[in-house]
Amino acid sequence: MSNNQSPTLVAYSEVQKHTTRDSCWVIINGQVYDATSIIDSHPGGSAVLLKNAGKDATKAFAPIHPPDTLASLPPEAHIGPVDPRTIPESKDEPTEEDKRIAKAVENLPPPEAALNLRDIEKLAESVLTSTAWAYYRSAGDDEMTYDENAAAFKRFWFRPRVLNKISKVSTATSMLGCPMSLPIFISPAALARLGHPDGEMNLVRAANTEGIVMGLSNNASCSIDEVMSVRQPNQPLFFQLYMNRDRSASETLIKRVERTGFKAIMLTVDAAVPGKRERDQRAKGDVSVQGPSHGKSGTAGLGVAHEFTGADIPWIHSLTSLPIIIKGIQCVEDAEMAFKYGAQAIVLSNHGGRELEYSPAPMTTLLELYSKRPDILFRREVYIDGGVTRGTDVIKALCLGARAVGLGRAPLYGNGVWGEAGVLRVIQIMREEIETCMRLLGVTNLDELTPALIRYGDQPALAKL
Ligand code: HEM
Ligand SMILES: Cc1cc2nc3c(=O)[nH]c(=O)nc-3n(C[C@H](O)[C@H](O)[C@H](O)COP(=O)(O)O)c2cc1C
Repeated sequence: MSNNQSPTLVAYSEVQKHTTRDSCWVIINGQVYDATSIIDSHPGGSAVLLKNAGKDATKAFAPIHPPDTLASLPPEAHIGPVDPRTIPESKDEPTEEDKRIAKAVENLPPPEAALNLRDIEKLAESVLTSTAWAYYRSAGDDEMTYDENAAAFKRFWFRPRVLNKISKVSTATSMLGCPMSLPIFISPAALARLGHPDGEMNLVRAANTEGIVMGLSNNASCSIDEVMSVRQPNQPLFFQLYMNRDRSASETLIKRVERTGFKAIMLTVDAAVPGKRERDQRAKGDVSVQGPSHGKSGTAGLGVAHEFTGADIPWIHSLTSLPIIIKGIQCVEDAEMAFKYGAQAIVLSNHGGRELEYSPAPMTTLLELYSKRPDILFRREVYIDGGVTRGTDVIKALCLGARAVGLGRAPLYGNGVWGEAGVLRVIQIMREEIETCMRLLGVTNLDELTPALIRYGDQPALAKL
């Protein structure tokens, strides 16, 4: 086709003929694609392609794939635009789920009405599709680790100093030199578009308004170009990376990440295969028997290199001058190893309980680090995430030596309920709770948070007084 010729329109009836493994066509955003070549390699499996074959797959495709995904298909896979006159009129009646969501949206209160993160979580459950809710909320096996992440914070209690002056409180800090107005960051989490059409772009905008760092997931539903189009100059974004089995693909991505202006690489190491997330599987109607490495409840683990070790961290350093943060550390030995091989920081995390069931709560790992290698906490930047629902959780982690604390689900829930305004509300609630906690604890500055201000259960103070 030459440039001045208009493309040949494809009749809908033609698309309908291609519904098998041998010829699988789909319509996405008015364009017809031949997906036959990826039937066996599609990361989401072949069943979903065949389920959508011969029809308009836009609704299934758009919230999950960044817009540049289709560029990875061979050029001949783009058949051309569908002829709009041949598309049968949709007689889709609203489903029970459509009705439930419409009603919940109609009854949504304004963001200010949410007093805490639990309020936002409840609203998210009411307005999200059942598959989006299940994807966000799901966790591994019996969700013991998911529950434990939050429970571990509850075992720490404060030792407030009530005779201090607390008129002015500063919550300012930094991560790897990037200034932040609060000691919290948005943990990288995939598929924000499942909750809102602007997806991760809402998180970027809210993080900028509130002055915090955001981690962008390797499996984000917005493309890097989309994210960068809303990022403010110099806004600190960290890129979360899964090491690809294909090293050259990782190499290309790492170089692109540096070129586009990310401030750090956050390498996730706790998700070599996807955890067994039954909530998610059930919502998708995917109850097929899974082999140990073939679970597909989510993007984590898809194509992740299995031979990666700490000794490969220098290889990443050889490709980029960006600092490297290792995310997913769960014991003191791996913390030592990450720093030994040149990591600039670590995140104590178990992926929000979505990966290994019975992995320790990050607060428990932090306590282990504090007990065995307190010097690491004094000298290096150690962050944690998982199970944070209150400002007091953040302050407890900082008392024990963490520098900043990540939130994974909460921003996704806020985004799903009110878009950007919901993410802002999540951060504002944390700000209010953190400031109140500091005042009542008798501190005005994050540097004053020390182990002397907390105790473990009924035990005496953690630090020597
Ligand atoms: C050509 C048409 C395509 C269609 C209709 C399509 C459709 C889908 C659907 C419906 C899912 C959800 C699976 C589930 O719920 O379990 C999915 C998942 C996925 N697709 Fe595609 N896809 C297409 C092409 C691609 C391409 C070209 C790529 C990248 C090379 C890709 C990457 C993925 C990934 C990474 C997932 C996993 C998301 C998750 O479950 O977390 N897809 N796809
Ligand atoms: C829906 C969802 C998707 C996630 N995707 C990623 C990801 O792509 N990469 C990653 O390193 N962590 C991912 N995580 C884990 C988060 O970065 C973070 O560790 C976790 O959510 C923290 O727990 P919380 O949700 O209790 O705050 C994801 C978490 C959720 C809930």
